[in-house]
Amino acid sequence: MSETKTDTPKKLFIKTYGCQMNVYDSERMAESLEGYEQTDNAEDADMILLNTCHIREKAAEKVYSELGRMKPLKDLKPDLKIGVAGCVAQAEGEEIMRRQPAVDLVVGPQSYHRLPEMEERVRSGKTALDTDFPEEDKFAHLKGRGTKARRAPAAFLTVQEGCDKFCAFCVVPYTRGAEVSRPADRVIREAQELVERGVREVTLLGQNVNAYHGGMTLAQLVRALAKVDGLERIRYTTSHPNDMDDDLIAAHADTDKLMPYLHLPVQSGSDRILKRMNRSHTAESYLRLIERIREARPDIMMSGDFIVGFPEETEADFQATMDLVEEVNYGYAYSFKYSTRPGTPAASRAQVDPAEADERLQRLQTLITRQQRAIQESMVGRDLSVLVEKAGRKEGQMLGKSEYLHAVHIDAANAQIGDVVPVRITRAMTNSLTAEQI
Ligand code: SAH
Ligand code: SF4
Ligand code: F3S
Repeated sequence: MSETKTDTPKKLFIKTYGCQMNVYDSERMAESLEGYEQTDNAEDADMILLNTCHIREKAAEKVYSELGRMKPLKDLKPDLKIGVAGCVAQAEGEEIMRRQPAVDLVVGPQSYHRLPEMEERVRSGKTALDTDFPEEDKFAHLKGRGTKARRAPAAFLTVQEGCDKFCAFCVVPYTRGAEVSRPADRVIREAQELVERGVREVTLLGQNVNAYHGGMTLAQLVRALAKVDGLERIRYTTSHPNDMDDDLIAAHADTDKLMPYLHLPVQSGSDRILKRMNRSHTAESYLRLIERIREARPDIMMSGDFIVGFPEETEADFQATMDLVEEVNYGYAYSFKYSTRPGTPAASRAQVDPAEADERLQRLQTLITRQQRAIQESMVGRDLSVLVEKAGRKEGQMLGKSEYLHAVHIDAANAQIGDVVPVRITRAMTNSLTAEQI
């Protein structure tokens, strides 16, 4: 049979796990694969890509069970190609194809610009593997942002990748490599393009975003982006306490477009454990830092991450974490049971009894939920501004995010997607707020 070129695009199904950086990478990968359009249905796909996370054991295991579920699709459709991207791809490489032979392609996060060639290779019946850490900036070589397709009003924009901090529990320095910042001019250009496509809010992403140094500091980048017409809101995540410099704190006071929300993980409230985690800050220095941030921006909504049951954590160490949470009063907090990651320094240390760790996690989560609920309830009667992101479930209702990142349903809204509108909060629910437009 001769080669006939049809215009029907092939279908790409991407499933994204893990952090926001993976969400951004999935968008970029989809845009770089010419001749494909995305589908929400794996059964329709000509190519399935799992963009994976390796942060905790469960996250990695999920990938293998998902691959097991997808394998039979290949029997129905022999041309279907299955690829694994993301941090499991980086960490396990070839091992993935050994464990699941249905996989055709394995691509690590630093090699996404090579995806189009790899796709061609697997189309010709071969397998493709790339988990290098090449010198070049992958985003500069990643095609596809030429598209002018409309975008949702809130977008992620990766500005920094990788991590040099080597916390004793964490795989990120191994899966994402050393800290690299994208040049500021490219980031600003990308933000302008996003605005042309309908974006009103960008969240600057990096594993250590406040260590950004792409020819400017993060504070300088935020102020430069604040000058982009049509861009209404700026956020950034995730920050490390040690890289929270005075100028960035000042930006929270002097830059209106910078939203009053800060995700600043501390992991533990015990100095002994923080030291064993190689965090290089203390509970006290973290608390004083938050004090300074709140001086600059009194209403800032704090968010954090915690690990319970880190090796050698005692009840007294855990209690110190509970005390710190009490003192900070978080609007949002994410807590995880310590998960042993092969190859990290903490993996070989004395592990905490799992039942004990479960019990601590439960206590911490109860406290966090109580704080979150009290903060949600304190919003009732307050006037906030909401970026409208989509239609709500009820007739006339619109759904969006407040400056503090709360999900807000606006009843009888008179607003379009992409508008930033003033509202008065009428009711607090567990995961969202209800409001009327003012
Ligand atoms: N760069 C960010 C977050 C990276 S991972 C930072 O420095 O804070 C996101 C969160 O996952 C971490 O903040 C930590 O709370 C959690 N985490 C990372 N490794 C983990 C492990 N081995 N077990 C349990 N939780 C972990
Ligand atoms: Fe992981 Fe620590 Fe780096 Fe965050 S700072 S990515 S927790 S090693
Ligand atoms: Fe997971 Fe990799 Fe992000 S391990 S949290 S997807 S950086």
